[in-house]
Amino acid sequence: MRIAVARETDAAEPRVAATPDTVKRFKALGAEVAVARGAGIASGIPDADYEAAGATIGENVTKDADLVLKVRRPAPNELTDYKKGTLIVAIMDPFGHEAELKKMADAGLVTFAMELMPRITRAQSMDVLSSQANLAGYRAVIDAAGEYGRALPMMMTAAGTVPAANVFVMGVGVAGLQAIATARRMGAIVTATDVRPATKEQVESLGAKFLAVEDDEFKNAQTAGGYAKEMSKEYQAKQAALVAEHIKKQDIVITTALIPGRPAPRLITREMVASMRPGSVIVDLAVERGGNVEGAKPGEVAQVGPAKIVGHLNVPGRLAASASALYAKNLYTFVETLIDKKEKKLAINWDDEIVKGTALTRDGAIIHPNFMPKSAT
Ligand code: NAI
Repeated sequence: MRIAVARETDAAEPRVAATPDTVKRFKALGAEVAVARGAGIASGIPDADYEAAGATIGENVTKDADLVLKVRRPAPNELTDYKKGTLIVAIMDPFGHEAELKKMADAGLVTFAMELMPRITRAQSMDVLSSQANLAGYRAVIDAAGEYGRALPMMMTAAGTVPAANVFVMGVGVAGLQAIATARRMGAIVTATDVRPATKEQVESLGAKFLAVEDDEFKNAQTAGGYAKEMSKEYQAKQAALVAEHIKKQDIVITTALIPGRPAPRLITREMVASMRPGSVIVDLAVERGGNVEGAKPGEVAQVGPAKIVGHLNVPGRLAASASALYAKNLYTFVETLIDKKEKKLAINWDDEIVKGTALTRDGAIIHPNFMPKSAT
C-alpha cells in the first residue's frame, strides 16, 4: 500500500496534506509513504522531518501511488501524474466544476471530496470544513485588528481612555463562533447575527449579544443537516433594515454567511458600507463564494468610502502550519477507515455513508448523486 503526499501546484496554496505525525501513523498501518520534495515547506515542515518520520522524499511520487493525499483538486494538466485507479483524497471544490470532475473520471481516478463529509458524530474528526473554518474565523479577527487603526480592548491610561471596539459577526457557524470568541478575548464588544435560531444561545454563551429578525421564517431556517436555507426576499429585506441601523455603529464587521451549494448571501450593501465610521474594517470570509459584502474584491484589501474591505483568499492558508496540521489529521482519520488493518491494504466499503457521501468519481464516471450528468440521474 503506497501513499503519496503531493506538492500543491497552485502557488496560492501553502497547506500540505500530511505532517510528520500523520506519516508515522500511516507507517504504523503498514503503508509506505512518499512525500513530494518541498511539499511541506510553506507550512514550515522541511523534507527532513518527513524523512525522520519514515517517509521517502521524491519528485514524481504520485505516479506509482495507490492513494494520494492532496489539499486541492488536481488541475487538468496534473492528471497525467497519476495512474488509472489511483485514489485521491482532497478538497475537491466540486460545485460548479462538473467539467473538471469529468476530466478526473476520464483519467480513471477514484476521487473523494473531503468537504462533502456527512456531519455525523463518527465523522466529526474528518470534518475539514470545521477544522479550516475555525482557523479562518480566528484569522479574520487578527486580520481585522491588523487593518484597524485603533485598539480593540478598552484601555484606561494616564493619557486618556481608548474605547473598546464594536465588532459585529454575521453568520455564526464554525468560523463565526471562533470569530466571536477571538474578538471577545481581545476585549471587543461583540454582537452577532444568523438566520438559524439555534445560534442565539451559542452567541449568548460566548458573552456576545444576538441580533436578528426573529419571525416565523427564522424559526424554521435550519435544515435537518444543520445548515441555513436561502431566505425569502421579504426576510432578506427585514434583515437588511436591521443590519443597516446596527452597522453604522460598528468598528469591525466579520461576515461568514454561506449556504451549501449556493452563492453566498449578500448581507452588506454599498450604502451600508458608506454609512460606517471612517477607519472601519469589514472582513468578508465568503469572498471566494461570491461575497457577503458589496465591493469586496477577492484577494484584496479595498478601501471603499470610509471602510476597508478585507477579501483575503484561502484564509486558513494564512495560518498554514496550523491549518495543515488539522487538515492532515482529518485526512488520516478518514483514510484509516479505507484500510484493512489486518491485511495492511486498501479495502473500501462502498456502502459506508462516509464513503458514499464523499466519493466523486470511480470506474471512469462521476458517481456522486449531486454531480452526475443530468441524463444519468
Ligand atoms: P456555513 O459555513 O455553511 O455557514 C456559515 C453561517 O452562515 C451558518 O451559521 C449559516 O446559518 C449562516 N447564514 C447563512 N445565510 C445567512 C444569512 N442570510 N444571514 C446570516 N447568516 C447566514 O456553516 P458551518 O460553519 O458549516 O456550520 C453549519 C452548521 O453545522 C452549524 O450548526 C454547525 O454547528 C454545524 N456543524 C456540525 C458538525 C457536526 O455535527 N459534525 C460539524 C461542524 C458544524
